[in-house]
Amino acid sequence: MISELSNPSVLMRDPQKVEETLQSMLKAGSNTLQVISDFDMTLTRFAYKGKRCPTCHNILDNSELISQECKEKLKELLNTYYPIEIDSLRSIDEKLPLMVEWWTKAHELLVQQKIRKELLAVVVRKSDAMLREGFQLFFDHLNEHSIPLLIFSAGIGDILEEVIRQAGVFYSNVKVFSNYMDFDEAGVLRAFKGELIHIYNKREGALLNTGHFQELRARPNVLLLGDSLGDLTMADGVHKIENVLKIGFLNDKVEERKQSYLDSYDIVLVNDETLDVPNAVLLYLTGNK
Ligand code: C5P
Ligand code: MG
Repeated sequence: MISELSNPSVLMRDPQKVEETLQSMLKAGSNTLQVISDFDMTLTRFAYKGKRCPTCHNILDNSELISQECKEKLKELLNTYYPIEIDSLRSIDEKLPLMVEWWTKAHELLVQQKIRKELLAVVVRKSDAMLREGFQLFFDHLNEHSIPLLIFSAGIGDILEEVIRQAGVFYSNVKVFSNYMDFDEAGVLRAFKGELIHIYNKREGALLNTGHFQELRARPNVLLLGDSLGDLTMADGVHKIENVLKIGFLNDKVEERKQSYLDSYDIVLVNDETLDVPNAVLLYLTGNK
């Protein structure tokens, strides 16, 4: 049906179910579709030429806006908590308080750095952040077909927006739920706004934004893209959901995590740095294939 589903990076627990879901979504029409996607390591690359690519946080952490001493502390946090994030032997319940601890400590450190709003664009421009191969088609196609794209990220909204703005794809169909910085009158970071979004409370984040999903109530079919098991709840706010196709990027600790990803995502993409499969699905659902 979609030749890209035979790519070597693609794993599916139940190809028959994927086919049925796709057919049902195609029949319903692309005017009933919305896309909900995670950002870091889902829309952005995990690695390029053997080197890890940065998350929104890493873009700041590694920048000239952060003192050497603070960089070391942030690195230490990353080295402590990232292995916990991807540990397949710990339950989400066990990880959750530790993830809150990570985000809280990191945000406290960032706030101490007196970061200036006007420098964020410079820092993003100088960074190694990279959207996945095929991003242009992904964003353009959704925009051309007026399909809403919600980017739901536990990263930093201001940085994320800058990445997609600089890539020229921050179109009017794109909406972002994320952690936004709060600047004082002088444009200096003083806090983060609103409820913290971390990797395991996206369900709560979705339920706080009922207005958005209410507006999209005529679109009960969802294409969900993520790279963490925490991303699976991003569609929990969708009104009377009819079909959801979940595509998960499995970037790291592949062997240990393969089974849990296969159990929860409909399509698992192993070490795939492209958006080829999501793009093929979108082309199919919009009748372009
Ligand atoms: O956009 P997304 O929801 O994927 O953003 C969350 C990612 O940010 C996590 O996968 C985590 O590894 C990363 N992170 C980070 N530094 C922090 C907190 C989270 O790189 N201080
Ligand atoms: Mg992610």
